[in-house]
Amino acid sequence: MGKRTISPGGSISGQVELPGDKSISHRYAILGALAEGTTEISNYASAADCQSTLECLRQLGVTIEKRDSVVRILGRGLGGLESPRRTLDAENSGTTIRMLAGVLAGQPFSTTITGDDSLRRRPMRRIMDPLRQMGAEIRGGPGDCAPLEIRGGKLQAIEYTPPVPSAQVKSAILLAGLYAEGITTVRESVSTRDHTELALREFGAQVDCSRGVVRIHPRPKLAACKLVVPGDVSTAMFLIGATLILPGSSLLLHDVGLNPTRARVLDFLVSSGAAIRVPALHSRASELTGTVSVAHRPLEGGTISGAEAAEMIDELPMLAALGPFTEKGIEIHDAKELRVKESDRIAVLSEGLRQMGARVEEFPDGVRVEGRSAGKLRGAKVDPRGDHRIAMALAVAALGAQGDTTIADAECVAVSFPGFFSTLERLRGVA
Ligand code: S3P
Repeated sequence: MGKRTISPGGSISGQVELPGDKSISHRYAILGALAEGTTEISNYASAADCQSTLECLRQLGVTIEKRDSVVRILGRGLGGLESPRRTLDAENSGTTIRMLAGVLAGQPFSTTITGDDSLRRRPMRRIMDPLRQMGAEIRGGPGDCAPLEIRGGKLQAIEYTPPVPSAQVKSAILLAGLYAEGITTVRESVSTRDHTELALREFGAQVDCSRGVVRIHPRPKLAACKLVVPGDVSTAMFLIGATLILPGSSLLLHDVGLNPTRARVLDFLVSSGAAIRVPALHSRASELTGTVSVAHRPLEGGTISGAEAAEMIDELPMLAALGPFTEKGIEIHDAKELRVKESDRIAVLSEGLRQMGARVEEFPDGVRVEGRSAGKLRGAKVDPRGDHRIAMALAVAALGAQGDTTIADAECVAVSFPGFFSTLERLRGVA
């Protein structure tokens, strides 16, 4: 597979429109398939993960037309999915397999869903337990990982508190709740992204949310919608990271999703001294979006722990990789979920940063990357083990190192941001 060489230096300048948010795209596609009528989604994510969701939905009998970033989904109604002829393949996408498991739990047929090597190592007990409690029969592979064989059927509402903060688990239960007898309740001790709740309402479901408790009423008639997906703030983070690392840089990002359950990372960066402003805020259906401007300025760094770590879970690799460029370094705790993402992100990122000369201490639930050490970073050969966010975080750190860095299997960035390298080159003026 292809490697990529990053030469350091230069500066970022210009403007960028981001690809659509990955999390929101999955949700709009799944709900479009369950709605009545044709749903039109603009700025649908170019991320490979979101194409996996469309492909699985096609296998379930849903007609989907796609032209550039506009997706039209001919909804089948809540009861209209068809038994697939073959095993569904979620490829690398945890959101696809876990959210679809919730839908499949409510179907009157059996489905097997699996994924690539990385996905088949990720924990699935977290969705199997609540969906079984609701009445679905689910058989997992070795270690209760995928492939999952899901025999759906009559479901009962449950009240459930997920043992780990996870929007994917919450979403799987809420989607199954559409098919259940009674009102399904999910209690969260740490709030996670609320795109499913917002999207369900957009499509006409009744969802009540208050202080960490979400309730879904069953059997709504979901109505097709016309929706625009905001730009992906987690993807934006890598371009923001490059801007913060390279002196003389400034960048304007248009139409960035700023849902408060996703945008905490911007607050953290501002409190750490970053020159980030949001000159314009809009709302896109129920999602908040805005223009974000960022300019290079030295960062103080600091510690991320507790609920903050859960809220910024996808941004932590990039934040950690900013560590050497900060005054105090970056320290992360309460993030052991990072170990069960597309890779063991704590181990793989630590290894990559160390190979570049950074001083890194690993904890079971986090990492500490020493500050004031940008001068020690040197180009190296690094291997993100097929993990898109690690590949992008290391590529950004490489911009501030001495000498070239080679990233193995760099095309894995396509899982969330196929245009990452070309966008970075364009903004550095080296395209
Ligand atoms: C996601 C939830 C998070 C996140 C993932 C996308 C979602 O995973 O890391 O990239 O779209 O719901 P968990 O639910 O495992 O925390």
